Amino acid sequence: MDKIKRLSEEINLLREQKKAIILSHVYERPEIQEIADFVGDSLELSRRAAETDAEVIVFCGVHFMAESAAILSPEKIVLLPEKNAGCPMADMVDADSLRARKEQMPGAVVVCYVNTSAEVKAESDIACTSANAVRVVESIPPDRPILFIPDKNLGHYVAQKTGRKNLTAWQGFCNTHDKLIRTDVLKAREEYPQAVIMAHPECRPDVVDMADVVASTAGMIKFAGESGEREFIICTELGILHQFEKRNPGKKFYPASNRLVCPNMKATTLDKVHQALVSLEPRVTVPEDIRVKALKSLERMLAVK
Ligand code: 13P
Ligand code: SF4
Repeated sequence: MDKIKRLSEEINLLREQKKAIILSHVYERPEIQEIADFVGDSLELSRRAAETDAEVIVFCGVHFMAESAAILSPEKIVLLPEKNAGCPMADMVDADSLRARKEQMPGAVVVCYVNTSAEVKAESDIACTSANAVRVVESIPPDRPILFIPDKNLGHYVAQKTGRKNLTAWQGFCNTHDKLIRTDVLKAREEYPQAVIMAHPECRPDVVDMADVVASTAGMIKFAGESGEREFIICTELGILHQFEKRNPGKKFYPASNRLVCPNMKATTLDKVHQALVSLEPRVTVPEDIRVKALKSLERMLAVK
């Protein structure tokens, strides 16, 4: 029996024994997505983490995602199989610098992308993901200034979509999506002129401007499934191709660049998931005083329809 099959079978047994649920982001390795109970984008994964009655959540994603699960479900054991799987963009803002900035912007509403630490969420008013950022910003009274952290590209996109002139974006960015430049997309479009261009709003604004569809990862998957179109150019992390191809046999998906690989999302392996279920480590926990404050930001986000 090959290694993937053997490990998958052992993981299935352990999952039952430990009453665990395995959640995977769509950027994870294909074999991780295949073993997961649920594969989704950041928003769907937060919802699942909040709703599950499993005792253990194995989070196949990056640290801030597991932390959100620990904030939403403090009574559960939350495991991050690779403890060093972080998000460089989330590290571009910390609680001290945010506090200093807030002092310069009295009265501003702080909207934090979920790609932030629990400490930063605790200093924010409301969280958002790429799937609901526009709706979250629209839920804020128009006269209130907004400090949007940490993604300047998502901030730019949201300001454009909502017409908010009083939105100030932090200058963070995703260094995976940042690798994609306009020339890559122009080349892909020349090669596949009939294909629909889909881009994640973490991409640079001049890439987003070229896209026919701008959406979160789940939004892109939904669009590709429902659309009558047959060919798509994909401007986001390459792990998503597994879901596109699995769900849409017969349709064609072309990555705009082969450089869009997030090493943190690829750090989780079946071996590590197996090990995490055996040892129930490494765990992600959040100190209670921070958790309670961070929970408010996440709950406000989840309440936005
Ligand atoms: P979504 O899955 O919410 O679109 O987020 C993309 C991402 O970069 C997560 O780190
Ligand atoms: Fe962070 Fe970008 Fe990797 Fe997502 S793809 S985890 S935003 S570095």
